[in-house]
Amino acid sequence: MVFGVLILAISCQTREQLNTSMVIETKTAVDSVTGLVIDKNFELIRGQCTACHSAKLITQNSASREGWEQMIRWMQRDQGLWDLGANEALILDYLALHYGPKKKGRRTPLTNIDWYYLQE
Ligand code: HEC
Repeated sequence: MVFGVLILAISCQTREQLNTSMVIETKTAVDSVTGLVIDKNFELIRGQCTACHSAKLITQNSASREGWEQMIRWMQRDQGLWDLGANEALILDYLALHYGPKKKGRRTPLTNIDWYYLQE
């Protein structure tokens, strides 16, 4: 019995270490309530973009800066979204940076490579 508890404690610890290394790898902190990426513009997005709907609409979407601008225009035209003023540029920066077009599964192929023969 005591033995079992001990093993449990050890396995919890390794899991914690794993989680920590995962956070370091992804390098982005995410707000646990909204799911939005936290950076210097996060508060602005939370304030301006979660009043009418869940932030999930944002986190599940991805678009270029132009694409996000079109969505904002559409909400302004049809959904009662207000003029974002000077904040709009910051909001678009944030959206395009964190919710830009889906990244490809692989890195893009290298170009301009100087190939060379391996010497034996
Ligand atoms: C005045 C209310 C309001 C505000 C504020 C608002 N939206 Fe929306 N938004 C809507 C409505 C209404 C919809 C449609 C919801 C639905 O279809 O359920 C919507 C839909 C969306 C969608 C989904 C679009 C699609 O094509 O499916 C995204 C993404 C989105 N909003 C992002 C944002 C962002 C980013 C902001 C901050 C700049 C924002 N919203 C602020 C009203 C608003």
